[in-house]
Amino acid sequence: MEEKSKQETPWYKNAVIYELYVRGFQDGNKDGRGDFWGLISRLDYLVDLGVDCIWLMPIYPSPGKDDGYDITDYYGVSPEYGTIEDFRSLLYQAHGRGLKVIGELVLNHTSDQHRWFREAKKGPGSAYFDFYVWSDTPEKYKDARIIFSDLETSNWTYCKENGLYYWHRFFYHQPDLNYENPKVREEMIRVIRYWLDMGLDGFRVDAVPYLYEGEGTSCENLPETHAFIKEIRSIIDREYPGALLLAEANQWPEDLVRYFGEGDEFHMAFNFPLMPRLFMALRQEHHGPIVDIMKRLPKIPESCQWAMFLRNHDEMTLELVTDEERDYMFHVYAEDKQMRLNKGIRRRLAPLLGNDRKKIELLNAILFTLPGTPVIYYGDEIGMGDNIFLGDRNGVRTPMHWNDNKNAGFSEAQPSRLYAPVITDPVYNFNSINVEEDKNNKSSLLNWLKHFLFIRKTFPAFGRGSLNFIYPDNKKILVYLIEHEDVKLLCVFNLSASSQPVEINLQSLRGYTPIEIIGATIFPAIGELPYLLTPNGYGYYIFNLME
Ligand code: GLC
Ligand code: CA
Repeated sequence: MEEKSKQETPWYKNAVIYELYVRGFQDGNKDGRGDFWGLISRLDYLVDLGVDCIWLMPIYPSPGKDDGYDITDYYGVSPEYGTIEDFRSLLYQAHGRGLKVIGELVLNHTSDQHRWFREAKKGPGSAYFDFYVWSDTPEKYKDARIIFSDLETSNWTYCKENGLYYWHRFFYHQPDLNYENPKVREEMIRVIRYWLDMGLDGFRVDAVPYLYEGEGTSCENLPETHAFIKEIRSIIDREYPGALLLAEANQWPEDLVRYFGEGDEFHMAFNFPLMPRLFMALRQEHHGPIVDIMKRLPKIPESCQWAMFLRNHDEMTLELVTDEERDYMFHVYAEDKQMRLNKGIRRRLAPLLGNDRKKIELLNAILFTLPGTPVIYYGDEIGMGDNIFLGDRNGVRTPMHWNDNKNAGFSEAQPSRLYAPVITDPVYNFNSINVEEDKNNKSSLLNWLKHFLFIRKTFPAFGRGSLNFIYPDNKKILVYLIEHEDVKLLCVFNLSASSQPVEINLQSLRGYTPIEIIGATIFPAIGELPYLLTPNGYGYYIFNLME
């Protein structure tokens, strides 16, 4: 009998994803706001960087009170970004360059300006009343936490028009849809088909845990939510094989991994538990936080994958740490209260790390070598700064710096027309922190990152291999071995500011010769004694072990 052919590795396992804010990327029509045509003109940059997939923040029509996560029409695009035809051109242009495009699927809520909600407000007689979650008292579902804790005081808001309260897990102007209503589920499945039919390659699914509510529960991760995700996945598998579902579920490991199901829910999920601990380990100069959380993450189904990230368009959330750890993180990473928002820190990568190039490289190197698919947030590849004086999370969504021309090359509009100012403070000024500058400078962060991504691509083991930690006595050093088929990659990171000696027990690898793959340098073979290395402060080695 013929042997069943080995399943092909899904594309997302070896990909690099780039998150971008269309409004902030490139203005194509001089109105001071980024758009599809601007983005199309920058696709070659992304290909050159080594990106495989772009994730677009919401592009739907929206009053923009939550930057497009408050949707008024799931079937359109915001006119400031272009037309549906322009969006099709973007897909066409991206696909022509081998780039995938994923969009946002905001299932949990709509804008209060959505036609459904405007109808629903008329009261129980309205055909859309049951599209939302209503109550005559704000006392229901008391066990649900408030997510935007700095901005909202309750998950219920009173509706003057019908005298009832409506449920919302985020802003008061984002009423939650009622998933008990089969019509809501049908509508959202229609939305999914619409975009995938158009050629979109999948979705980052927003705010997944909150779809269903239940009295006496936290109203998160309920079984009904999983059942609906399974239904969506089965449609994807049947009708759109290859399309990606990526979960935003900011949950502790045990709840988070359930979103992979048995390989029948999400293909990918963001590794929220790991993210803050990368920053913690660096600050504490101790491998403990990283090792402990990675060991707490149960094994995930073969076809599934972690999305690995350092920063994104939101505040760096610190929900998944203890209260003490959070106080510590605030103290060391956000001394100025202006930098804090809800339970998080609203800063970009470079400012968080004190603009220390070695620290930025180190965290990226860990991110790119741990099992998973890296997700880069636009601008962080050149070490862009932020503007903590812009409200909410806007400080990390300012225009991309392309060059040192007017408006950093982002737009030809008058500077005062830009949707947000470019960064002009002395350290992060766009005159020096910009793509063109970094391209011309051989030793820039951009070129370092590009080289690393290129090398990573040549070792598919990084996206797919198994992970095993090795524990040296020197706890300032993080060591792990990635293995895939007969490839063995040994990764060593110095989490401290000073040079460190480290003896690594590699008895089982005796006779192998480590080749440092970033610099292509041959090291002495592994012998009887523990392997001695002396990495510089924040230094690291990525070895390919050759027999
Ligand atoms: C997600 C998004 C965030 C948005 C929220 C409400 O957490 O990442 O930006 O505000 O959902 O839609
Ligand atoms: Ca524009």
